[in-house]
Amino acid sequence: MKYSVPANIALNDILPNPEILLMGAGPVPTTPEVKAASAIIFSHLGSTMRTIVERVQTMSRYIFQTETTRILGIAGPASAAMEMAMVSLVWPGRKVLVLNLGTFSNRFGEMARGLGGEVKDLYPQPLSCFKAQDVKDALDKEHFDVITLTHGETSCGIMNVELQEIAKIAKSKGVRVVLDAVVTLSCLPVPMDEWGIDVMFTGGQKGVSAIPGISLIAFGEDVFTEILSRKEIISHWCLDVRRAWKFWGNGEYHYTAPVTGILALHEGLRLICLETLEKRFERHLDSSLNFQTQIEKKGLELYAPKNCRLNSVVAIKTPQGVVAKDLIQTMIKNHHVEISGAFGLDIIRVGQMGEQCRPVNTQRVLHALSDSIERLRK
Ligand SMILES: Cc1ncc(COP(=O)(O)O)c(C=O)c1O
Repeated sequence: MKYSVPANIALNDILPNPEILLMGAGPVPTTPEVKAASAIIFSHLGSTMRTIVERVQTMSRYIFQTETTRILGIAGPASAAMEMAMVSLVWPGRKVLVLNLGTFSNRFGEMARGLGGEVKDLYPQPLSCFKAQDVKDALDKEHFDVITLTHGETSCGIMNVELQEIAKIAKSKGVRVVLDAVVTLSCLPVPMDEWGIDVMFTGGQKGVSAIPGISLIAFGEDVFTEILSRKEIISHWCLDVRRAWKFWGNGEYHYTAPVTGILALHEGLRLICLETLEKRFERHLDSSLNFQTQIEKKGLELYAPKNCRLNSVVAIKTPQGVVAKDLIQTMIKNHHVEISGAFGLDIIRVGQMGEQCRPVNTQRVLHALSDSIERLRK
């Protein structure tokens, strides 16, 4: 043999022990129910899977607060769901207005440009979210086919609080509204139909507290019908919603469906339904506000102003005299708690999504943070 067998190293010798508590911007800790479900494999076609898919769609309708039947899972990260939305609605010559708040909202523009769309980026005032009036002015000046927004921009911890109004303005001008609800769905209210969202998606590893690598997307009925009637070939085979609907609508083969991911989603969604959205939103709000108060009591500064602060991923200015990367590593090493750094900004970020919002978890972050800052300042 030209190549020799690599050393046999068991996973147990590699994985962190004790387990690290995931308190960053995702993935988040999961539940025993999700863990058990994601260990099962069975045929992706047939009546059992059909029932599970229908249950995932029914539960998603409640969680997305929508009547649409056009809900699909995707074997891929939330970015794949974003890409499915974009390949469905953008092609050469289509005009896309990107409300650009940071890394993830910017991704919409990257995808739209790759598809030949004519993209215009709108930016808010520094440390602020988009004002409905500014979006209206942009839409008054020029016609767009699609507007994209990120509800919670994870990269800076800012939330688009005027989202409902922005969507209403866009709708009144016949512009399709695509919403990234990746870090907000099931953490805080995002009622798809009431707010007039055409396409909305999330990833399995955030509020749903399932697993990474699986995502969920909902298309309003009328936008879905419009996409079905498109004459052009959709350039992404896996992400062609017309092909994907064969499986999600009719139980037929498209590609081998991510069985474990769909089961994990089922369990994540089921636990949300058991808790109910009202109670879940209350739990998230209480946990995040309490966390923010504790952070300020420690003399640390929150990055985003209160009026547009994202509660599900809290951005904190890197404490003085400390380097963010060192702080994160110290917390992992000494406390087995992981939080996130950032993409360019001098902030650290703590998640408050799904299973992260448990008092025991939040207390562990607060303790690990204080202790690690103290160690590093010595
Ligand atoms: C707001 C937002 N959108 C999109 C994504 C992309 O998700 P994924 O990494 O699963 O593709 C993320 C990831 O953190 C996110 O926070």
